[in-house]
Amino acid sequence: MSAGATTTEANPFLEGLMAPVHEESDDRGLEVIGKLPDGLNGVFTRIGPNPQFSPKGAYHPFDGDGMVHAVYLEGGKARYRNRWIESKGLLAERKRGRACYGSVSEFSIPEEDVMSEGGMMKNTANTHFVRHADRFLALLEAGKPTEVSRELDTVGEFDFAGKLMGSMTAHPKIDPKTGEMIFFGYSPLPPYLQYHVADKFGVLVHSAVIEIPAPVMMHDFAITENHAVFIDSPAIFDIEAMMRHEPGIRWEPERGTRIGVVPRRGGNEDVRWFDIDPCYMVHVFNAFESGNTIELRAPSFDTMPGGLQFDSPEQTEEPFPRKWVLDLSTGSVSSEQTDDRAGEFPRINDRHTGLRNRYMYNVMARNWGFGFDFNGVVKYDNDSGKGRTFTYGDTTVVGDHAFAPDPAGQAEDDGFLMTLGVDRETEQSELMILDARKIEDGPVARVQIPRRVPLGFHANWMPE
Ligand SMILES: [Fe+2]
Repeated sequence: MSAGATTTEANPFLEGLMAPVHEESDDRGLEVIGKLPDGLNGVFTRIGPNPQFSPKGAYHPFDGDGMVHAVYLEGGKARYRNRWIESKGLLAERKRGRACYGSVSEFSIPEEDVMSEGGMMKNTANTHFVRHADRFLALLEAGKPTEVSRELDTVGEFDFAGKLMGSMTAHPKIDPKTGEMIFFGYSPLPPYLQYHVADKFGVLVHSAVIEIPAPVMMHDFAITENHAVFIDSPAIFDIEAMMRHEPGIRWEPERGTRIGVVPRRGGNEDVRWFDIDPCYMVHVFNAFESGNTIELRAPSFDTMPGGLQFDSPEQTEEPFPRKWVLDLSTGSVSSEQTDDRAGEFPRINDRHTGLRNRYMYNVMARNWGFGFDFNGVVKYDNDSGKGRTFTYGDTTVVGDHAFAPDPAGQAEDDGFLMTLGVDRETEQSELMILDARKIEDGPVARVQIPRRVPLGFHANWMPE
């Protein structure tokens, strides 16, 4: 067994609040404590790993079959629905009634008949759920997007009419002005990084290979009005080690971290790289242009978190919000930590993606092991440099907070933060809705879900 690759006996990622659920449910007329905001209609999703079958050996949360949990808000009423992503790999496993795929931490090639039905790797699509060009996409950065209906039925892998070569990040950016979806895909095998733009109709209109010296785990990136911004951190894939069931990613800080800036329709020859101190960014808040500079903000780890290296999930590194200013005229870069409150799962009002934003939201944790023990949210005002916080109850665990614009509002923070919370003791799950203008008041509405929703990855809100 490789380090951190806990087996089915005593696997913290398959127990307690992370234990998978085995039912697909539909619950209508959910009880609401407080009051749903007027006019807030749409679908809230939270996706995460939920293995249908007991793992063959090691299990890491990155391995689990994707399950989408959705809360639909419709004319003042709320309903819940959850569905597995029915990947080809999961269908192959269902046919055989057992797990057929290995773990990221104990990679193995599946049997030939399984591989011919479900592929070399299972595309669990367990990481994020987005809407673009009226298409709902469940995303896993190691695979192609999976199209899903609004009612969560799996349509199948979506490859942009055969144009998408390689995988797609779970964190595409949608330009609020042009409607384009800008994204990338990385791979442990060459080409290590590809950059893509889909137009507002969902047609892939630009692709370019960006050369980087080594295959790295690149989870997120940023856009500005005219550029895409890549983060090349020294989290290096080692496939041979993976085949030996040793940790497949190594942190090599001596290689340094670089930020790459490429024009929105540019390619490798246009990239400008900026060297920064070695650090790892899992996610970014946002980036925007101001004259000849680009400001990028992200929570930053001094080193790659153990859990992401498929290793030492107990190891705790704290991420702190940081700002980099890249000067495109001089090639210089400045950097500063902007707060001493650790936080991750950064979000903004998506209507400001790539544009100047004033507010940012970050999730706080009781501890920063890879245990998903999140308990609060901080709202930053970048004009004042101050942050305001809300901490949930002692037994509540929350996650990613999606921003839902208030249909009656115009200001950047006119909106609501939505997250799934679960009580450790009662296992009651709730959709928490906070008013982004005054998060310190706590939830204005708590939608009661009559079953436990396991802890997972990203949340999103897709308004009507
Ligand atoms: Fe993510």
